[in-house]
Amino acid sequence: MRQESGFLFDTAVPQPKRLWSLHKIVTVVPLSVGVALGATIAAIIILNARIAIEEETASAFRTAQATIAVRMPPSFARADTMGEAMQIAHEIDALRHVSAHVVDNKGTPLLNPSASVSMEDVEAPGWFTWLMRPEVKADYFTISHYPNVLGSLVVETDPTDEISEVWEDFRIIMPLLALTCIALIGMSMGFSNLILRRLHRVQDALGAMRHGDLERRAPPDHLVEFASLADDVNALAIHLKSQRAENEHLQTRLLTLAETERAKIASDLHDDMGPQLFALNAALSQAIAAARDVSGSGAAQLDDALRAISTHTDAVRDSARSAINDLRPMLMGCGSLQELLGELVAEFTEIAPEVTIDLDCKNQVAADELAETAIYRFVRESLLNAIRHGKAQRIRIEMHLAEDLIVTKVRDDGRGPSGRLPSRGHGLTGIRDRARALGASFDPPRRVGAETVTELRMPAR
Ligand SMILES: Nc1ncnc2c1ncn2[C@@H]1O[C@H](COP(=O)(O)OP(=O)(O)OP(=O)(O)O)[C@@H](O)[C@H]1O
Ligand SMILES: [Mg+2]
Repeated sequence: MRQESGFLFDTAVPQPKRLWSLHKIVTVVPLSVGVALGATIAAIIILNARIAIEEETASAFRTAQATIAVRMPPSFARADTMGEAMQIAHEIDALRHVSAHVVDNKGTPLLNPSASVSMEDVEAPGWFTWLMRPEVKADYFTISHYPNVLGSLVVETDPTDEISEVWEDFRIIMPLLALTCIALIGMSMGFSNLILRRLHRVQDALGAMRHGDLERRAPPDHLVEFASLADDVNALAIHLKSQRAENEHLQTRLLTLAETERAKIASDLHDDMGPQLFALNAALSQAIAAARDVSGSGAAQLDDALRAISTHTDAVRDSARSAINDLRPMLMGCGSLQELLGELVAEFTEIAPEVTIDLDCKNQVAADELAETAIYRFVRESLLNAIRHGKAQRIRIEMHLAEDLIVTKVRDDGRGPSGRLPSRGHGLTGIRDRARALGASFDPPRRVGAETVTELRMPAR
């Protein structure tokens, strides 16, 4: 349980084991999905293109093999076999997906393989070519002119042009995909900011309400969901406000009832005990007068006994007065608040003559009896605390009207509150309860420079 602004809050609500941030989720999730999507699409493009390149180059290679096999002149023909082989190599080399060239018996190329990549083709970077290039297939056709072997016609698979084509698509698709992902992340972050901004506004309103400001309202919103959330929060604030008003009303009624009851008890005590004490005193006076005529051995004892009875009677009368005054200050309703406080100061000066008590009350202040009684009790308890706990030598009571508030401050030069755990005393608690019931605010004793200040601000009604 946690106490804030006088209210008790139950913090024992089960918390989820792990808390997630919406902002992080909307940043990390689209980023991870984007990266995964990009990687998957890239892998699919590369794999499919690899298979296609492999199949196409293999097919072109087989066609080239068949063409060479058909067109290669036999070794015993009287033709220019080398020239024809070179012509075939040139034609095959011009085809897509294959390259061909002629080498002599030592393996030195006689016909430079022509570049299979046209000028318009964009050359793919090394890593991409490495990823796409299938295993190279090669075949050697012997060029001979009986009885001599002149060289070989070499035919090989050549996927360079196909790889260049795939690369051209790839280099457009991948940046587009990256841009789409960035746009998606930006959009989801934008949405999250939009939601979080609205949530913060509602949160601010809730925070203010939690600190007691029930006039604060969640702002209206154009989004249906947030508008309904704001409506709910505002309805809660209105409900709390009405509950608080009802509470205060009940507390005021309770206080009124309690004060009335106390006043009645005080009056009953006064009316019952007053005549009885008076009769007792009168009878005692008579007994003392009669005892003067008594002589003999028991006279001194009787005199002592009557004096003891007189002392105890005075003590009972003082106790009864003090109890009645405690229940309801006797002068309440018989004078102004300033006069009552003046009487109080005089009483305390009598009890503790070593303490200097000043009363500074410049303007005439007045409130209903309930409020005046609360101020009176506040000053009495503060004086008592300053002398009892603070061991003060000088106390100053200040009372003035500030707008519609009666501000009463009690300053003392004592040692101030110890700062330890609050005691089990009822004094400050009683003042706080009365203040709340009457819509007043109470500041318990606090150090201000070298002084201890206790303050009560009571609405002047
Ligand atoms: N002027 C003061 N100077 C120093 N300490 C103070 C002063 N006023 C209050 N205190 C401290 O605050 C505590 C609470 O005061 P409170 O009046 O509520 O209880 P109490 O005086 O101990 O008991 P009770 O008033 O019920 O007889 C005191 O015990 C004291 O430690
Ligand atoms: Mg006290």
